[in-house]
Order: sequence, then structure tokens, then C-alpha cells
Amino acid sequence: MTTLIKNGRVIDPASKTDEVRDILVENGIIKSVEKNIDAAADHVIDAEGYMVMPGLIDLHVHFREPGFEHKETIRTGARAAARGGFTTVCCMPNTKPVIDSVDMIKMVIDKAKEVTDINVLPIAAITAGQDGEYITDFEKLKENGAIAVSEDGKSVMNARVARQAMRLAAQVGIPVFAHCEDKNLVARGVMNAGEKAKELGFYGIMNAVEDVIVARDILLAKNTGAQLHLCHCSTQDSVRMVKLAKEEGLNVTAEVAPHHFTLTEDDIHSDDANFKMNPPLRSRADVETLKGGLKDDVMDVIATDHAPHHKTEKERSFTEAPFGITGLETSVSLTMTELVKTGILTPMQMAEKMSYNPAKIIGIDKGTLLPGKTADITIIDPEAEYVINSDRFASMGKNTPFNGRKVYGQVRYTIVNGRVVYSNKNGSECIIDKDVPKV
Ligand code: DOR
Ligand code: ZN
Ligand code: ZN
Repeated sequence: MTTLIKNGRVIDPASKTDEVRDILVENGIIKSVEKNIDAAADHVIDAEGYMVMPGLIDLHVHFREPGFEHKETIRTGARAAARGGFTTVCCMPNTKPVIDSVDMIKMVIDKAKEVTDINVLPIAAITAGQDGEYITDFEKLKENGAIAVSEDGKSVMNARVARQAMRLAAQVGIPVFAHCEDKNLVARGVMNAGEKAKELGFYGIMNAVEDVIVARDILLAKNTGAQLHLCHCSTQDSVRMVKLAKEEGLNVTAEVAPHHFTLTEDDIHSDDANFKMNPPLRSRADVETLKGGLKDDVMDVIATDHAPHHKTEKERSFTEAPFGITGLETSVSLTMTELVKTGILTPMQMAEKMSYNPAKIIGIDKGTLLPGKTADITIIDPEAEYVINSDRFASMGKNTPFNGRKVYGQVRYTIVNGRVVYSNKNGSECIIDKDVPKV
């Protein structure tokens, strides 16, 4: 089985290539990347005018299986990934039961293999049941396929437990993905603390809620030698602290979610829970600093924090509804529109932050288009202009603040292991599910 991708703008951070090239894929492997490849192929993709990137990797998604299948399943989440241009996703452990055991890790891996071609890599909980007390068996979890440990959804509040976890993570060589939120400081907050919260009459979430745990975790990473990845950074001081940590040579990386660089608290005009997420939409000054951090490569990764919830849950008031928005199917176009089209990021930096750096952080042999590597490839039309329509989402979660927003940059093909799993050409869209052998 061979596929020839013709005349695309190939953007590969590993070889610093940003040139028009052809790519020949043979049996799921990138065979060659050259000018004018003149080979016969089973399948030819005309990529003229398109950007061809290493398959996008999202370090932070919530697929709700098991326990909350009314919000999302591994199958529907993976379909959303394909539609969003993601070939690999890392799913958070705040399911029910929590992914805190080898059996649960195996269950996610087996289920994913059964239902999708997308690479679904599980993240294990730091403590049993995410209860913050008893640290899970990092070594066994890693051996069985956990690519990171995280308490996402909340922080490990006890600093002694957090330190011990980082010490063990450093020993085992598994990254710690930190959701930074001081449970006591956040109190009853639901949106950014400030004038806007006052105007709408909601309890606020101060920047300090995030900042004190970012500071603590960076210091604990220094104390233990752990590899620390900071999830969904939303504040100016987070960016400053990540910069300092890097200047000290610590093994610290950080991600920003598209909603945090696209929207501010001032975009919330009414009691609409599609604008409710954790951390919350921040001030203009925070957003500008996040963008600066991305531009200067202080911030390494763009990750979605894809957090689908059921319609009935998000129809509730801002105070009552759960935190979180879907992200997989809007990430490419928001990044293109807000960061690439505006000149804040080069396409190369986009490929770094959405594929190359994520692969490095979790230590997988992906995120590049070098010959010999697995053919995970994302093809994007940078000029296509369209209006986001949540009815078309493959995700079960329609909870987005971006419905009706005009954006640029549309995914044309998502290719995993040499197989097209999503295509959108000439107005015709197709998610190609895994071939399930007939019994
Ligand atoms: O907005 C969020 N939603 N933030 C989180 O940390 C958790 C997530 C979820 O699981 O819904
Ligand atoms: Zn989180
Ligand atoms: Zn999350």
C-alpha cells in the first residue's frame, strides 16, 4: 500500500524543513521526502497550497470512558481527534473509576485499539481514586503504557504527597502533568476574579489560585529532579515562572489551551456556561503574556484540554454547570487564526507546539516527517475560511464558546500509520472509522 502526497508545503521541525516537497508513504512508513517524487502509488493526494505537518499530538484530552459515556466515549473522542487533525491524544484519568491501576490502563489501551486507528495514550492518576493520599504504582503503570501521571481536574493539595510523587516520578522516569489550582484559594469561584465577575455577579477565581501551585510544583521539581509539565497555563505569572524555571535549567515544560489565547473574560456577556472552564478565561493582559510566551518559546505546547460535557449539564447556569469546553475540533483553526495568521507563530512553531514538542515531552518516536518514521501526517489548508458549527462536531460534546465564529485554516487530511482517517475535500467530509473485522 503506497500513498504519494504531492506538492505540499512540508513543515518538519526535526529537519527544520519548510519547503514544497512530495512525501511517499509505503506500508505505513514515510519512505521519502523529496522534490518531485515520480513513483507509482495506490493513492495520490494533491496537497498543493496545503501545509503538511507531522501528525498533531494533543497532550491533554478528556475522553469520559468509563463512567461518563453520556459526555464522550473513546470512540467518539477519537473521531473528534481525527476530524481535528490529531493523530495522537493523551487522555486524562478523571474517569469513573479513575484510571489509577494497571487494569484501567489496559482497559483504555485495549478499547482504543478496538475502536480507532488514532493513537490514544493514557495518563494515570497520581493518587488512588485521585483522592490525594495514596500514590499509585508509577513503575507498573508506566510499564503497562501510561505515558504520564496527573491528578488533572484538581491538584495534589498535600505538598508532602506532591513531593513524594515527584520523587517517585523522577526515579521511574515518567513525566508529571500538573493541573495547578489551590483548592482552598479557589473557594466558590467560577470565573476570573475582577470587574467582569462583579458585573455578572459570580464568585471570582484569582490568578493566585493557579500561581501558588505553579510556584510550588516548580520548586518541587527542582527539589526532586522530576520532569514537570504544567497543564493549561492561564496567567502572566505562570509564564514568568516557567521562564525562570527554564533559565535555571529545570526540566519544566508548559502548555496553553486555544481558548486561553483566543478569549478574555470580557467575551463573557451573559450566563452562558459554554464560557466556563478551569482555569477560567483571564484578563487581556494575561492573554497578551500567554501569546508572548508562545512566540518566545517559553510555552512549549498547545493542548486543548478537550472537556466534553452533556448538553443538559451545560444548559445550567454558570454557577451550576461543570467546568470545561470541547477543543479537539477547533484547535487547528483557532491556532491558525489567532497565532499564525497574525504572525505571532510561524507555521514551524505551530508544528513544534502541536506535534514535535508534545512527542518529546512524552518520549514517543513521533512528531516528525523524517523518512523511516511512522506516517502520522496532518494536512491543513491555511487559506480556507469557514464558520465553526458545533452541530458538525464528531465529539458528543457540543459545549464550545466558538460556535458561529469565523476562522481560517481547515484540516484536509488526517493520516495515521499511513491510513487516511479523515478527509475534507471539495466540501465533502469523511471520518473513516477503523476496519472492524466481520465475525
Ligand atoms: O475545565 C476543565 N474541565 N478543567 C479541568 O481541569 C477538568 C476538565 C474536565 O474534566 O471537565
Ligand atoms: Zn486541568
Ligand atoms: Zn483537563
